[in-house]
Amino acid sequence: MFSSVWNFVKRHKRKFIFTGAVVGGVYFLGRYAQKRLSEFQEKEATEYIAQARRQFHFESNQRTCNMTVLSMLPPLKEAIVNQLNSESLTALLKTKPANKLEIWEDLKIISFTRTIVAVYSTCMLVVLLRVQLNIIGGYLYLDNSAGKNTTTPLAPPDVQQQYLSSIQHLLGDGLMELMTVVKKAVQSSLGDVPLKQSLSLLEVEQQLSWIRAEVEAGLMSRYMLADDENALADQACGLTKNDTVTIRLLNETRDMLDSPDFTTVLNVSLNRGFSRLLDNLAEFFRPPPGDSAPGLAPDNLSAVSLPVAKIIPIVNGQVNYICSETPSHFVQDLLMNDQVKEFAANVYETFSTPQDLQK
Ligand SMILES: *[C@@H]1O[C@H](CO)[C@@H](O)[C@H](O)[C@H]1NC(C)=O
Ligand SMILES: *[C@@H]1O[C@H](CO)[C@@H](O)[C@H](O)[C@H]1NC(C)=O
Ligand SMILES: *[C@@H]1O[C@H](CO)[C@@H](O)[C@H](O)[C@H]1NC(C)=O
Ligand SMILES: *[C@@H]1O[C@H](CO)[C@@H](O)[C@H](O)[C@H]1NC(C)=O
Ligand SMILES: *[C@@H]1O[C@H](CO)[C@@H](O)[C@H](O)[C@H]1NC(C)=O
Ligand SMILES: *[C@@H]1O[C@H](CO)[C@@H](O)[C@H](O)[C@H]1NC(C)=O
Repeated sequence: MFSSVWNFVKRHKRKFIFTGAVVGGVYFLGRYAQKRLSEFQEKEATEYIAQARRQFHFESNQRTCNMTVLSMLPPLKEAIVNQLNSESLTALLKTKPANKLEIWEDLKIISFTRTIVAVYSTCMLVVLLRVQLNIIGGYLYLDNSAGKNTTTPLAPPDVQQQYLSSIQHLLGDGLMELMTVVKKAVQSSLGDVPLKQSLSLLEVEQQLSWIRAEVEAGLMSRYMLADDENALADQACGLTKNDTVTIRLLNETRDMLDSPDFTTVLNVSLNRGFSRLLDNLAEFFRPPPGDSAPGLAPDNLSAVSLPVAKIIPIVNGQVNYICSETPSHFVQDLLMNDQVKEFAANVYETFSTPQDLQK
């Protein structure tokens, strides 16, 4: 029996070798596939974990951003109210001075200016902080991810602090400049509107859009970030390595602020902010209850008109709502805005991707 098998094998020798090779091949191939598969799964898992970490890091960064915005609103409001002090004017009016009318005219300009400045600066604060915290957040993610060169961090603590303190511009010189520009625009729109004239909500909206057009005709980034000249002024004192890194970060931020995407996101926020402001004003432009005369549909923006002198105190009080430290609908709206979120995610994505992968 054995010999017959042997003969069989001899006759089919080539076939057996071949089969052996195939069986062995499949075996090795299987092993190879399994190894590759587990390698693949490992890589997949590593990538997944990295992605999850990055996502987690992103989310916690957005929470930081939310909290930072809220914590900066009180000093922002204080800066606005100190500079555009309508309270001192109302106090003056109570003394029945001779130049009463003149003071009322001042009050008109100051009230509108400070409310409009509050809308602008709050929107800018939200969008600028998103950009800055996501740039720094992206770099921090890279600094903390595995296999990074820890001897030269992209954003050491001193740099983070120096970089983030540039936000002071928006509460300082930038705010002053913004006030000047807005005041001029308010003056040219409302300067000639008499105190006794009645305005409907639609007409107030029209005034606001004229003012916006004038303000936004200029470059908006100058209110958010100091010019290059200011940053370079320190150069005479000799720049440390940290300074150079900060300047590079500020350069990258400036590029971002001048990008069309940023302009769009800021515009979206401003549209949102100003329409919130009008919603608030609308509360005061309601027809008296029970009044059902024609043209008094609740959504008719022309139905009710108020004299400018009555609108002034309503507008004047809005700053307290806009810059409220307890999250107002105004700020919530800005923080929740999907386009702002998406933009933040893009900034983070860009800055948390290693440079060599970007090329
Ligand atoms: C930030 O605040 C907004 C508005 O309160 C909220 O919708 C959003 O979920 C917050 N984001 C984070 C990450 O906490
Ligand atoms: C880290 O970067 C520094 C300066 O770029 C370089 O001298 C050093 O060799 C790098 N270290 C590693 C581990 O790559
Ligand atoms: C740069 O920052 C690091 C940590 O943030 C600090 O240890 C170092 O002293 C700083 N260098 C200079 C020259 O200020
Ligand atoms: C920042 O940008 C200016 C001009 O855009 C350039 O002259 C300067 O070298 C840049 N600084 C750094 C540190 O990249
Ligand atoms: C800002 O948004 C308004 C309303 O959507 C639009 O009409 C205007 O063109 C936008 N401006 C810019 C500069 O994007
Ligand atoms: C709104 O009210 C004004 C003034 O009363 C009237 O002329 C206009 O027709 C009304 N519009 C609508 C849509 O009801």
